[in-house]
Formats: sequence, C-alpha cells, structure tokens
Amino acid sequence: MKVLAINGSPKENGSTASALRFMAETLAGAGIETEIAHIGKGPVQGCTGCNGCDETRDGKCIYNDNINAAFDKLNAADGLILGAPTYYGGIAGGAKSAFDRLFYMGADLKGKPAAAITVARRSGGEDTFHQLNSYLTLSGAVIAPSTYWNVIHGNSGEEIMRDTEGVRILRCVCESMAWLLNIIHAAKNSVPFPEMKRDAWMNFIR
Ligand SMILES: Cc1cc2nc3c(=O)[nH]c(=O)nc-3n(C[C@H](O)[C@H](O)[C@H](O)COP(=O)(O)O)c2cc1C
Repeated sequence: MKVLAINGSPKENGSTASALRFMAETLAGAGIETEIAHIGKGPVQGCTGCNGCDETRDGKCIYNDNINAAFDKLNAADGLILGAPTYYGGIAGGAKSAFDRLFYMGADLKGKPAAAITVARRSGGEDTFHQLNSYLTLSGAVIAPSTYWNVIHGNSGEEIMRDTEGVRILRCVCESMAWLLNIIHAAKNSVPFPEMKRDAWMNFIR
C-alpha cells in the first residue's frame, strides 16, 4: 500500500518537507510506502475556473504542469497526506493555488485514508488545518484521526523536530492512517464504499 504525501511549501527542504519525511519514516515502520511529491516550487498557476478539466483534457488541467502529474499519482495512491505551511493564518498561496487545481480536477479519494498537516512558526495553524481538511472531506476521504489538530511548530526542519508534542501528533496520525489502510484493504471486497453520487447540484437560485 502506498501513501502520497504532497508538499505545498515553496521550500523543497523546509519545515513541511521535514514533517513529511518524518511521517514517511513512521509509515515505513508500519509497512506502508510513501512517495513525497513537492508541488509548491516556483510560481504556481492558480485555478482560473475555466472548467477545461471537465471539458477538454480527460479530467486534466489545461495548465499541463506538475499538478497534473500529482493528480495521476493521487488517483493511484491508497492514501494521502496534504502538507502546507501557514502563511498569514492560512494556506500558503502557492499551495492553495496547487490544491485548488488538484481538487477541482476531481481527485479520487473516495474511501481512502487522508490527513492534512501544517507547519507554523507560532499561530494561525488551526485555521490552515481546517482549510486543508476542506479539500479532503468533500472528496470522500476518510480522515485519519490524531490526538490534536495536526499543526507542528517551527521555522525550520530542525526546529519542528524539537516540537515534541507536534511530533507525537504526527506519529499518531501515521499510526491511525496505517490502521485505516489495513482495515480498508481487508474489507474492500466485503464492505464496498458507498457510491456517493454528486448529482444534486444547485446554486441556491430561487
Ligand atoms: C509569507 C509568510 C507568512 C507567514 N505567516 C505565518 C503565520 O501567519 N503564522 C505563523 O505561525 N508562521 C508564519 N510564517 C512562518 C512559516 O509558517 C514557517 O516558517 C514554516 O516553518 C514554513 O514552512 P516551510 O519551510 O515548509 O515553508 C510565515 C512565513 C512566511 C514566509
């Protein structure tokens, strides 16, 4: 079983990367493989709402960059970790642009365990965590629980590993994700995930 861990930070080796590497190691200890995909580097094109992913490119975004590659990886993965730093009390801009496009394409997360994590130097992490969870809960993901909200504190990869409570929270998320992966894998033929159709679509027009 394989988990995709997406790093939305502009920094390939920053705090979020360090948190995701720790999670990958923890999951490896439970027999789960993790691939880390860094999609926050450089200028990231945001979603323009053109609906091209719906109409022209077999579900892919018209901006054919690493977000399309991440989309394929996500659909093939058994689980997801969505990681981003906190900027001004919310998801860092590049990560937000990337995730808007990834999820507007209709990433298939139905019945897959998933977790959001964020890194903040000091405060605003809870808002970011709840924003990140919004992508997961409307995509059919099964949220891996922990003992607190998944915010780890620090300004560098080295600092966050000294947030002992944050590290423990990440370890708990990984343990519950491995547990969910094993349960879902064992039960997938006998207890299928509901179809969850999205066929009642209205815009509150009276
Ligand atoms: C533009 C910008 C805005 C930030 N805003 C916040 C913030 O609102 N709250 C906070 O605690 N830290 C904030 N930080 C600090 C980052 O969250 C922190 O450095 C984090 O470790 C960066 O993760 P990364 O190395 O994965 O990019 C901000 C950093 C930048 C560059």
